[in-house]
Order: sequence, then C-alpha cells, then structure tokens
Amino acid sequence: MCACITNRPISLHLPDAYSPQPHADVRVRHPSLTLLRKFIPRKLRAIAKRFAVRFSRHGARWFSWNSFLASLYYLVVNRSFCREQRAVLAGRADYWRSETGTYRETSVQLRRNIHRIEKGLIMKPRRAIFALRYIAETIDAFEAAMASPLEEPDEIRWATDVLDRYFESVEPFPEASEQRQRFDRIRLSDGSRDGQAVAPFPYADIVPHGIGHEQLLALFRHRKSVRWFERRPVPFEDIKKAVDGARLAPSSCNRQPYWFYITTDPSTAQKLASCAMGTAGYVHNIQSLIVLVGDLSSFFSERDRHLIYIDGALAAMQLMLALDTLGISTCNINWPDIGERERRLSGLLGLSPYLRPIMLIAAGYADHTGGVPFSQKKSSDLLIRRVVLPARPDA
Ligand SMILES: Cc1cc2nc3c(=O)[nH]c(=O)nc-3n(C[C@H](O)[C@H](O)[C@H](O)COP(=O)(O)O)c2cc1C
Repeated sequence: MCACITNRPISLHLPDAYSPQPHADVRVRHPSLTLLRKFIPRKLRAIAKRFAVRFSRHGARWFSWNSFLASLYYLVVNRSFCREQRAVLAGRADYWRSETGTYRETSVQLRRNIHRIEKGLIMKPRRAIFALRYIAETIDAFEAAMASPLEEPDEIRWATDVLDRYFESVEPFPEASEQRQRFDRIRLSDGSRDGQAVAPFPYADIVPHGIGHEQLLALFRHRKSVRWFERRPVPFEDIKKAVDGARLAPSSCNRQPYWFYITTDPSTAQKLASCAMGTAGYVHNIQSLIVLVGDLSSFFSERDRHLIYIDGALAAMQLMLALDTLGISTCNINWPDIGERERRLSGLLGLSPYLRPIMLIAAGYADHTGGVPFSQKKSSDLLIRRVVLPARPDA
C-alpha cells in the first residue's frame, strides 16, 4: 500500500511476492516484437534495422514539410503520439464531468473561472461590467460543487468570497442580477464563515520573506541530484510538508493539474522506479518515491495539453527545494513516453487514461560517501539572449 497526499491510501497493483532485484532495470518489450525476434534471422533483422534508421532520419525531413504530412507520418509510420492524443481526448471528455454531476475531489471549472474573476477584480481601472460571458457557467459550477462531496472546503470558501466581492462590485445588469439571485440561494450562510475574506487583497498585505539572494543561491547550490541514499526511511509527514510548499507554485489559471503519488516504502519505491529507464545501477537503494502525475481532465481544449508539464515542473522544483531544506535529497527520474512503460506504471498506480506520469522523484537521506556528479551548468552569459526590437520609425 502507498499513501497519496490526500492521506487517502491508494492501493497499488503490486504482485504479492515482489522483492527488488539489485540493479533491476525492467526491459520492457512488446510481446509481438519478442515473437518476431524468434522467427526472423539475425541478418535480416540487422538489414531491417538499418533501413528503419535511415527511413526514420530521412522520413523526418520529408514528412516535416507541412503539417498534413506530419500528421500522416504520425498516423501511419510512427505512432509515438497516439498515447498522448488518447489521454488529451479522455481528459477533455472528463473535463465536463460537472454536467453529469460526477465531481471528484475538486472543481476545475470553478477554479479557472474564479481565477478569471479575481483578475477582473484587480484590473486598473476595473470595468463596471465583466465576466458576462462566463458568470452563468461559474454559478453552474458553483452549484454543482456545493451539491457534491468536494474534498476541498477551502475551494468553496474561496469561490464564495470572490463571487461575493464580484456581485458587490459589478453594476447591476440583468444577467448579473439573475446569477446573483442563484448564488444567494446556493451559497453557505455568512454565519458559517469567519476571518478575512479569501479574495483579492493589496500587495502591501503580503508578509515579507526575509530571505536574501545569497541564502537562496546557497539553497540552489546545495540541491544536487543524489542517487545514493542511506537505508533509512523518509517520514511521510516530511514529504507532505514539502508538498505543502510545492502546492504554492504558480499554475496556469490556478488549476494545479497534477497529483503527487508518494510511497515511503523502499520496495514499492524501487518497484515503481524500475519502470523508468534512468535508474539503472542505483534503483535498488531508492528509499522513497514521488510520481508526479499530470491530470489532463483539467482542460477543455487541446491547446492547454502542455500545462501538465509546465505547471508540474514548477511544482516539482519547489518540492525538491523544500525537501532539501528538510535534509532530504532527491533525484529526478525521466519519464520517457514509451507505451509499454507507461502501461506498466499506470497499471501499478491504477491511473485513468487522462492521468499521465510527468516525472519520478527519488527521495532519501544522502549517503555522504556516495558520489555526486559535478554537472557543470551553462553560464548566464550563454543562456541569455537579450531582446531588442528595432525602433519603429513612427514610435
Ligand atoms: C526531467 C529530468 C529528468 C531526469 N532524469 C534522470 C534519470 O532518469 N536518471 C538520473 O539518474 N538522473 C536524471 N535526472 C537528473 C539530471 O541528470 C541532473 O539534474 C543533471 O545532470 C544536473 O545535475 P544536478 O541536478 O545535480 O544539478 C533528470 C533531471 C531532470 C530535470
């Protein structure tokens, strides 16, 4: 069993008698390929391989000529994107779950629309009427969230306070009045709320952090990818503490389209980590593992499909730095888009088709005798491209 961060244990589909193998790297090959290897002579296989390599090189040039040919290539010749396409589509299908009343833990429509309303509220100058296009949809999402057992009371509180502020601020126009009446019918009574409103506030209210640039750099320098760990358990509570920091990372429309699947059991961690390719040689000493999983059901359109990686990476960086402050070292583990591996890991974690692993993060107490690659970084002079636009004659 492994516990996920909601403290709701999820059961993993691990075989009963799993014992991690030293240096185990699960070679995953499609069964039909194994069968083909048996019947095709080695020479013929080598010729076919050479042809395939050549075709793959030249084909890339020919088929990248325009987007139609590229689509054809990825439909007929190379099926690398089919898993992503299915996951994106399954996510889109699931996005509209509120319409069927099947909410899960959180309401993504509500989060996005409340975020948009908050932005409208802080505009300078604030428009007298805004959010007209989506206020009805927002109240629909609010109603569905109120009627369902959401696990996030804070989400309801945030939505309530922001909508409150919205209806106080906009001019009374017919659409808003109608939605306000609906909102007043559905919302929790004021009596159940206390403290400051969870709604836009002036920047001056933010508590100063007191962290200097040098201190921050010291933390950045201290974090290194560590692959050799002491054989002692990492407390789940410490990882949860770090997730408390990671969840504060920015995310597009504040949707936070990811989940942290966590295990602090070494054998489970090693079993999961061996599904990836990049753990050969050290998988056997991984003590804890976090699988960052992107949730494509957070988006109504394909245009947002990359946000699981962007938002996920921002949160992952905060997670690793937070763990470092707790004395816990980490190593990212690449999650390549390979069908057999994804099927294996998704099977173990019981992931729906719209949930895609983004990366794995090994975590543990660094073995001080273990080596750490120097990993020379590029200089900022090299990385920076200064942007200077030519002055317009009419400017
Ligand atoms: C997305 C990503 C994937 C990575 N995958 C692996 C991996 O599969 N195996 C591994 O040993 N290290 C992996 N690393 C760690 C990198 O090798 C390491 O970050 C890089 O060499 C720089 O070293 P540093 O993290 O100590 O600064 C990965 C890092 C990132 C960001």
